[in-house]
This record gives sequence, C-alpha cells and structure tokens, in this order.
Amino acid sequence: MKKAGFIFDLDGVIVDTAKYHYLAWKNLANELGIEFTEADNEKFKGVSRKRCLELLLEMGNITVSKEQFDRWLEEKNEDYLKYISKMDKKEILPDVTKVLDYIKDKGIPMALGSASKNAVSILEKVALMSYFDAIVDGTQVTKAKPDPEVFLIAAKKIGAEPENCVVFEDALAGIEAANIAGMESIGIGDVKILSDADHGFNNFTEIDVKFLDDLILLLESKN
Ligand code: BG6
Ligand code: MG
Repeated sequence: MKKAGFIFDLDGVIVDTAKYHYLAWKNLANELGIEFTEADNEKFKGVSRKRCLELLLEMGNITVSKEQFDRWLEEKNEDYLKYISKMDKKEILPDVTKVLDYIKDKGIPMALGSASKNAVSILEKVALMSYFDAIVDGTQVTKAKPDPEVFLIAAKKIGAEPENCVVFEDALAGIEAANIAGMESIGIGDVKILSDADHGFNNFTEIDVKFLDDLILLLESKN
C-alpha cells in the first residue's frame, strides 16, 4: 500500500477569493479601457499575477515599459489586498473544513498548491494554516500552471509519489497541471468548463464520505 497525498488549490477551492481577483483585474481593465468579462477571467484562474497582466495587456493590444508593467502589477495587488483585508473564517467555502477534518483524522498528509503569493496571509486570516503539512505558493514556483511544478513540489514535500496524490482545483490550468503530473484531478466548479478533470463537483457540499474513502483506496492502490 502506497502513501496517499491530498493537494488543494487555494483561491476558488478553499476560499472564495477568485471573485476578488476578478474584481481587481476588472478595475484595472476598466482603467485601461479593456472589456473584461467573467468568461475572460476563466483564463486568469490558477495563473500567476504576472501572466495575468500579460494576458490582459494582450487583450487590449497594449505594450508597456517594464516600469509601467510593474506599477500595474502592484496596483492590482493593492486593490486585491483591500478586498481581502477583512477576510475571516466566514469566507471558507461550504464544507471545506469538513473534508479537511476528515482527511486529517485519517492521518493523510495535506499540502496547499497555489499560484498566489498571498496564500500564507490568506490561510492565516481564515485560520486554516494548521491543516497543512506543506505549503507551496507563488513565492516558491518558477513555472505557472498548467506546468505541474507546484504540485510536484507539494507531493515531494509531503513524501508522496505523484500518482498517489489527488489535486482539488477550480482552474482549467490547474486541472491540466494535475493531469500532466499524473495525479488524480478533482474539478471544483462548473463541470462543463472543468471537463478534463477525473471527477467534478460544483462545490464541497457534494463530496461525501463514500467518495473520499473510495478515493483514498484508489490512491493507495496505485504504483
Ligand atoms: C491563483 C489565482 O490562485 O493565484 C489567480 O487563481 C491569481 O487568479 C494567482 O492570479 C496569483 O495570485 P496573487 O495573490 O499572487 O496575485
Ligand atoms: Mg484557484
């Protein structure tokens, strides 16, 4: 029997911060005269801050100096930080804690695998730090999802092989990254958008104990 590992994305999976990222990008897009819809935002999910700005500028056909690019990055982040400044436990998505508790009680290691450089401060705000045996965030990775780097580092940190790990993701890029890493992928959100995932749920309230038990057995049986 192999050791299983659970890896969770943060924004849009554990907490509802995906909406704040969207609002902050939309504010900057408005300022730059670029139309930015929720559909456009799907491409920004799971993707590093820098890559998001590159995508936005491509949408508006805008080329800028490095200095201006960095100022806009900073502006977006400051705006985002304002949105999340008052965050607390109430912003943990429904039944996430129930699932984390269940996995923790089983003694299965858990890691965070997020592209965000704000991940640790968010986990502290919502008091979830203690659940995670390892945290891999945007400060530690060089390649953005769909590159599997973030999840491969997470698996290593919790001492599990990639094929014995499962990833919970709300982003298309994240599901791709998990699939490339050879991990089991669980899409959280619109199952039509996340159709490449091995399993899909609208949210954690749909995930029951039977599913988790079967998943653990499956992960532990893979070599
Ligand atoms: C990901 C989000 O988790 O983090 C992306 O899905 C975001 O939308 C990325 O761009 C980087 O986040 P941050 O907090 O470092 O700007
Ligand atoms: Mg996400």
